[in-house]
Amino acid sequence: MPNSTGRLVVAITGASGAPYAVKFLQEAAKLYREVYVMVTEQALQVIGVETGRGVSSDKLTCEALLGENFPSIKFADRRNFFTPPASGSYRHDGMVIVPCSMGTASRIAAGTSDDLITRAADVCLKERRRLILVPRETPLNLIHLRNMVTLAEAGATILPAAPAFYHNPKSIDDLVDFVVARILQQLDAPHSLVAEWQVAKQ
Ligand SMILES: Cc1cc2nc3c(=O)[nH]c(=O)nc-3n(C[C@H](O)[C@H](O)[C@H](O)COP(=O)(O)O)c2cc1C
Repeated sequence: MPNSTGRLVVAITGASGAPYAVKFLQEAAKLYREVYVMVTEQALQVIGVETGRGVSSDKLTCEALLGENFPSIKFADRRNFFTPPASGSYRHDGMVIVPCSMGTASRIAAGTSDDLITRAADVCLKERRRLILVPRETPLNLIHLRNMVTLAEAGATILPAAPAFYHNPKSIDDLVDFVVARILQQLDAPHSLVAEWQVAKQ
């Protein structure tokens, strides 16, 4: 990809939407040479419920999470700040939090930087790098909405996990692909998951 560092940072948190994370990582692993992945404890449990994949912090492998091995994927312990994404000196194309819980969104909006995920997100905002949050919650309360406004004002992209229906999805995979395609588009990364919308000529 032109102008790409070949590096990406990804976090998976405990909102519903594990299939988005799995599909996004399967695509990103082929596009980037280095993908740091952080997973919260709550995300591990939700992944188990939603995908049936048996993952735990001591059994978190590429094979277990994504069904195959990708050399580009590097798991990072979110409690370990001695990891490249904690520093602004580590150049990368951006950070994607997919799905992003309201809890994690609130911690980033408050600038807590109390684990590697919130610190890496904070670094993206201060370095003016892409920070793409994929929240999944409904309905949204005023605290959720205010946090998302704060994040958007600070430079983050709020990309809700809200698949569309105008491409006539036939399966859950089609719905997942729609959201993953939108994330890749924000990264200026190529994909062939969903065709570009063409208005039929009259
Ligand atoms: C099955 C399940 C589904 C959940 N879905 C959501 C959700 O869609 N959005 C959300 O913000 N939180 C959701 N939660 C709550 C979060 O997991 C919880 O707030 C947690 O503290 C988030 O932690 P984390 O941000 O460290 O991953 C869900 C929890 C469970 C158990």
